[in-house]
Amino acid sequence: MKKNTGLILLLVLVFSSCGKQEVAKNEKDHFIDSLLAEMTLDEKIGQTVLYTSDWTSTGPTIRDSYKEDIKAGKVGAVFNAITTKYVRDLQHIAVEETRLGIPLIFGFDVIHGHRTIFPVPLGETASWDLEAIEQGARVAAIEASAEGLNWTFAPMVDIARDPRWGRIMEGAGEDPYLGSLVARARVRGFQGDDLSAPNTILACVKHYAAYGAAQAGREYHSVDMSERMLRSVYLPPYYAAVDEGVATVMTSFNDLDGVPATGNKFLLKKILRDEWGFNGFVVTDYTSINEMVNHGNVADLKEAASLALNAGVDMDMQGAAFDDYLKVLLEDGKVTEEQINLSARRILEMKYNLGLFDDPYLYCDEQREKELIYHPDHLKAARDMAKKSMVLLKNDNQVLPLSNKSEKLAVIGPLADSKKDLLGSWKGAGEDDRPVSILEAIRKIAGNQNIIYARGCDINSTDRSDFGKALYAAMVADKVIMIMGESSEMSGEAASRSNINLPGIQTELIKRISKTGKPLIIVLLNGRPLDLTEESQLADAILEAWFPGTEGGPAVAEILFGNSNPSGKLPVTFPRNLGQVPIYYSVKNTGRPMDPDQKYTSKYLDVPNTPLYPFGYGLSYTTFEYSEPQINDTILAPGSELEIKVKIKNTGEYDGEEVVQLYVRDLVGSVTRPLKELKGFSKIFIPKGEEREVVFHLKPEDLAFYRKNMSWGTELGEYILFTGGSSADTKEISFRLVK
Ligand code: BGC
Repeated sequence: MKKNTGLILLLVLVFSSCGKQEVAKNEKDHFIDSLLAEMTLDEKIGQTVLYTSDWTSTGPTIRDSYKEDIKAGKVGAVFNAITTKYVRDLQHIAVEETRLGIPLIFGFDVIHGHRTIFPVPLGETASWDLEAIEQGARVAAIEASAEGLNWTFAPMVDIARDPRWGRIMEGAGEDPYLGSLVARARVRGFQGDDLSAPNTILACVKHYAAYGAAQAGREYHSVDMSERMLRSVYLPPYYAAVDEGVATVMTSFNDLDGVPATGNKFLLKKILRDEWGFNGFVVTDYTSINEMVNHGNVADLKEAASLALNAGVDMDMQGAAFDDYLKVLLEDGKVTEEQINLSARRILEMKYNLGLFDDPYLYCDEQREKELIYHPDHLKAARDMAKKSMVLLKNDNQVLPLSNKSEKLAVIGPLADSKKDLLGSWKGAGEDDRPVSILEAIRKIAGNQNIIYARGCDINSTDRSDFGKALYAAMVADKVIMIMGESSEMSGEAASRSNINLPGIQTELIKRISKTGKPLIIVLLNGRPLDLTEESQLADAILEAWFPGTEGGPAVAEILFGNSNPSGKLPVTFPRNLGQVPIYYSVKNTGRPMDPDQKYTSKYLDVPNTPLYPFGYGLSYTTFEYSEPQINDTILAPGSELEIKVKIKNTGEYDGEEVVQLYVRDLVGSVTRPLKELKGFSKIFIPKGEEREVVFHLKPEDLAFYRKNMSWGTELGEYILFTGGSSADTKEISFRLVK
């Protein structure tokens, strides 16, 4: 189906008195109306169906006849199919071999890069650099759209406060304010400002909602929380994405307060459509309609399909529930034709917005594919982001950076020479052998002759046969670098862990190596906060490198040798042990705040309340000194704003970047309030010896929250402002909010 240009011209004339945007909207509405009028019920239902191709799989394949389904006009979109050739062939079936020739949308999990892989999203967030994060999504969209795609199942914006949950690596961490800004940046990066451009793609915010709060961090587990918690902490990033114009929303696998998200009217209608005004389409997660039977919420798939459509789902991912049952549900009077029309319309509108009715092969340009995949600019952006994302957790006696290139270095560890693990989980179409390993990159900078390598142990086994070689390497070296952590499969979907230590016998190896007394540097690859209490006592330096992507090897080496100064800050709390979980910075005071000298206060017998490494924390090779914050007034009145100034001096030996953070505490509220809430941050570069001033602005509405009666607004009274380089290291000043 192609647009009729004569008709469009006529419409343009008819609507010439309206604004340009209105003309375009009328033109689109007319086009979709005419198309829907021509479509049979089966064809409309077909638009609501999404199937995976056989190019790759991201879940159970329950349908291998998808090509025949496309031909029969029973499919609206396909996922997991990439490359221009493959996509073109499938699109050809839809356009040339179906009655109306309606083009397909092509989706894929382009989460942190397409071919050129950036650090996992938790790592990217640690950069606190929104422009770079947006740029990362832009690059991903450019490469994905050059390989036939026009829809990504990202950004994943689930707030997560439990490191056992493997998908914590796929989001932006624990904080709703930071998470919301990151969500906006990613949506902007993927979608740009013109969806019909050949290098922009539809984004899909997921997993709506509260998937990150799975009980005990166990994947797909139930979620139950107060509406206040849901709205204050978990919903803001989805709202931010919707407000930024995200085209599609994906439901989540979990139930929430007893109702599976995929059949949840409260989430999908009341909040998403009525309160937020979302006007794109809603897609389920992979077979999540079918799974409502297992949830025990419906008796069979037919009932599940009815529940999903009635709740507000527009497209069924891989479940065949809409395909098999919408028609009979209509005959039974369980759903209406208007509902089916509305869902089909929303999907057709996105096809229109993508420009597919003008050119169904817009995203199948082989030339673009050749030119843009692994473009040097993309690789450079990925390397820059990898460097920005790394967090220096410890650096005693300035053991880092390594400056003397002639010293002997032992490089030890199961991840030192791994390429594939650099990419992390959800690596899009990233190729496992593409990265340069950390070992190779270190060799390149330090010279082969200065490096002694031993694998030492596996990521997760009890084989000690290489311990001896590793100990020998450490003994003959001047310094030891151990590259430790998790394999890429140990985080991501269906990768929950019941303990968050380094897997296998890695800690045992670290202990043995530390006994040599050689300066010990640990580099970590992992997708979640780990329990590093023991390692932090054994190592002189720890660099958290996350899963840093295609360019991660050279990025780690450049940081180790000081070609780049680390500037990442943690977007999530690192506990002292698993027993502290859930642990996050924005906790409440309780009625018996912790007092070490008083037994009956809120604390543990065996571990302090504080984390090992707090939210917002991260060191640099240089040091920063903060002034006391200054405010222009101690009173904040409606219509005005506070100006908060803080001076930061680079007092060390290196130029560096610092993430200056602003937190607020509302001292008295109609409901209890967090001890600190992030309200602003600014990442600035300060040359050594110099001082910079950062200015924050705070308006009364920035202090709004869900009050006792669940209304959104502010409450008057005393507040404390905190500024600093970590949530746990701040200087404060107070003000009053008045009428
Ligand atoms: C995941 C989604 C993903 C989908 C399609 C599901 O298993 O939960 O995040 O987008 O598969 O691959």
